[in-house]
Amino acid sequence: MIRVIVVDDDPLACRILTRMLGPDYLVDAFGNGEEALAHFRRQGAEIILSDVKMPRLGGMELLARVKEINPEVPVFIITGHSSLAGAVTAVKNGAYDYIAKPFDPDDVLARINRALKERRLEGTLAFYRQEQEQEQERHAPLTRNRRMAEVLELGRRAARSDSSVLIQGETGVGKELVARMIHHCSPRREHPFVPINCGALAEGVLESELFGHEKGAFTGAVARRTGYFELANRGTLFLDEIGTTGNPFQVKLLRVLQERCVTRVGSGTPVAVDARIIAATNQNLDEEARRGVFRSDLYYRLSVVTLQIPPLRERPEDIPLLAGHFMRLYRHINPRINGMSEEGWRLLERYDYPGNVRELENIVERAMILETSDLLTPRSLLVEGGAATGAPEEEPLRMEEAERDHILRVLRSCNGRKLEAARILGINKTTLWRKMKRYGVEEGEEGG
Ligand SMILES: Nc1ncnc2c1ncn2[C@@H]1O[C@H](COP(=O)(O)OP(=O)(O)OP(=O)(O)O)[C@@H](O)[C@H]1O
Ligand SMILES: [Mg+2]
Repeated sequence: MIRVIVVDDDPLACRILTRMLGPDYLVDAFGNGEEALAHFRRQGAEIILSDVKMPRLGGMELLARVKEINPEVPVFIITGHSSLAGAVTAVKNGAYDYIAKPFDPDDVLARINRALKERRLEGTLAFYRQEQEQEQERHAPLTRNRRMAEVLELGRRAARSDSSVLIQGETGVGKELVARMIHHCSPRREHPFVPINCGALAEGVLESELFGHEKGAFTGAVARRTGYFELANRGTLFLDEIGTTGNPFQVKLLRVLQERCVTRVGSGTPVAVDARIIAATNQNLDEEARRGVFRSDLYYRLSVVTLQIPPLRERPEDIPLLAGHFMRLYRHINPRINGMSEEGWRLLERYDYPGNVRELENIVERAMILETSDLLTPRSLLVEGGAATGAPEEEPLRMEEAERDHILRVLRSCNGRKLEAARILGINKTTLWRKMKRYGVEEGEEGG
């Protein structure tokens, strides 16, 4: 119910307004500004109707105080015909509108409704804006590292232009995340971001996926298909693992980039496309181009702006930042976990993360599953803390091995009863079974 505060030292005015608004609103009436303000401070209200001349605290003073507390609440000033000038001053000072005495019920209700409608509209706009910001935030890579921050800043600056961007970095460093950030910071953000993994597709398939094909272009082309290039029109096309593509494909891609149009496989007619290209690779493309493994003309075309993302081990300050981020992200898995033990932090900071941020994410996610206390400890992060207490030059214990060992140990302690082991591990039986298969753990005698 919408709450309205009515303030007038004339009890009759209060009574009339209360009766008028009563069926639709929750009305609280006061005879002076001081009481009304105290009530507003305690309980709030969506709308305030106030007389100007009142004992103790006048209408204009009340208006000013309310604006301090919540500038968004519309305040109506009640005036007699004789003091219209005062009403105009009030509106200049931030009152939403005025209401003239004697009251015309239809007019009063219409004005109030209009105010509420505007507020709701503003409310949804603010909500929408907030959503958009959150959306951008989801694509905002976190960092405390100076070099990484510079890389991101360069990416944001490049976002404003249409230039191609080449993102280089080891596996799992966040190349795709940075590509999405660029898209979301660019004027193309309302249009699609289309990622395609060039490394996962055979050359011929890649070509028809990217450029599309006509019906009957080749065996199996039963229908005409729009390519990713066209899908990304006005948006961004993310070409992941570009370094793995072969020479014939590179030639075709270069032509598309130069001519800004694609020709579907099996068609003679080019279609204009406007897609911003972001390419990523975990190789050193510069080197590959120099060696002639990657076409240098395409390399130059793609690398107008190059972002080199440093590996996680070279930005140790990001380890606690990202670990905390992933603990929040995976909180739902194990809501009991409320932090990381001191040894846990030490362990994470010492590890060298060949799989970079993705590996850290997996470590935290798995620990959230395995941990049985309310803190993440080396036991769940790296099983028994082998690496935490070991000498620094010791080969870091790989997570997979650690998990395998842990599962084996728990299974043994349950005499191979999987249901019980799964319960202790905090995972379901299917997940356990899947992990056992993956790690080649022997099916013991069936029990659980
Ligand atoms: N700076 C960061 N802040 C928050 N999350 C990050 C950050 N960097 C990476 N991530 C997360 O780590 C995971 C791996 O990132 P992403 O997929 O972008 O890496 P990639 O470099 O594309 O990996 P690959 O080389 O394997 O394709 C994702 O879940 C991503 O959200
Ligand atoms: Mg990737």
